[in-house]
Amino acid sequence: MNHDLTLWRHAKLATLHGEAAWGWIEHGAMLAQGETLLWVGAESALPKELIQRLQTSHDLGGALVTPGLIDCHTHLVYGGQRAAEFELRLQGASYEAIARAGGGIRSTVAATRTATDAQLLASARQRAQALMAEGVTTLEIKSGYGLSLEHEARCLSVARQLGQSLPLSVRTTYLGAHALPPEFEGQSDAYVDAVCAWMPQLQAQGLVDAVDAFCENIGFTLAQTRRVFEAARNLGLPVKLHAEQLSDQGGAALAAEFGALSCDHIEHLSNQGIAAMAQSGTVAVLLPGAYYFLRDTHVPPIAALRAAGVPMAVSTDHNPGTSPSLSLLLMLNMACTLFRLTPEEALRGVTVHAARALGLQDRGQLVAGQRADFCVWDVGHPNELAYWFGRNPCQRVFVGAQERL
Ligand code: NIG
Ligand code: FE
Repeated sequence: MNHDLTLWRHAKLATLHGEAAWGWIEHGAMLAQGETLLWVGAESALPKELIQRLQTSHDLGGALVTPGLIDCHTHLVYGGQRAAEFELRLQGASYEAIARAGGGIRSTVAATRTATDAQLLASARQRAQALMAEGVTTLEIKSGYGLSLEHEARCLSVARQLGQSLPLSVRTTYLGAHALPPEFEGQSDAYVDAVCAWMPQLQAQGLVDAVDAFCENIGFTLAQTRRVFEAARNLGLPVKLHAEQLSDQGGAALAAEFGALSCDHIEHLSNQGIAAMAQSGTVAVLLPGAYYFLRDTHVPPIAALRAAGVPMAVSTDHNPGTSPSLSLLLMLNMACTLFRLTPEEALRGVTVHAARALGLQDRGQLVAGQRADFCVWDVGHPNELAYWFGRNPCQRVFVGAQERL
């Protein structure tokens, strides 16, 4: 265990902690012991007794510092790509029609099953590195393109290997109930039985941090989703849900009943769904990339979520079908332009609220006791993180107080 004391001084801190807008500290400093922040505040108030014990000191030259970014909803591990399907949609085919005809998620399942472990790892690693270049320090990765015990385990293992081999925290989510694989055609209930039966085996291999499902006309019914959630609850696993993306299925209220960490997409979320999420403390994960790429026009009920006090996170939803984006900063911009979040709400959405959507209490803000995961930016004010698009102002990243080079 490393107990070294490290200081960063001469920084503008957007801590996202406390009452001030952005948790702002104009002339800030931070001290870490090992991987954890020990003290954060105004440089003039640095405790002298700690300064005497310093091992390392960094002068950040007045640069802006934020918590490390957290991408809390991705489908990063898959084979192939779906540019041809994009072209079909541009010619007028709908996402649902393509899925019903056996394309969509199923075409990625076929490509994932034929890819080797090494191919899956190499492609996912490149994508993770693209996200990391923009300051992502924690990444959630779902399965859901394997849809058999063997292939779901393969995809989740690749996700775990990324977390072990890159300077990045990875959280894995089992999304067996993503689509019906061809070998279960016409037997969706039997497939849900299988998804539930595989769960303890995957958990025993250390591959599952949370469980997700796609509750939708082209996915699984409310009753089937409930069965998946019951299986998760029996194993003590937290749940999340792809809810009300294309239609209102009442999925959010069901997820809230199970104390879900998050409901994601939620373009068609009802008032009852919002009330249930507010009651259970479930995070609303907004995915503007999928909204944009599907040329959706049904905006999630942002004002009502805000009024109800539901925390809102923002994520890439990186996947080959509905959001082939590898820029979390672009999602900040889109959350503001398309969904009317404020730039501060958007930044909270990829830090403190994204952490909560993953059930992580040790990150997302710059305050004593949190992990020393943070980014140094080449911008003057944090609102610029949502303002520029197609520019990467990320200069330096520290993960557990160690600089990522
Ligand atoms: O989050 N909606 C379901 N799942 C993914 C898309 C999966 C795909 O089309 O490959 C999503 O949008
Ligand atoms: Fe998704």
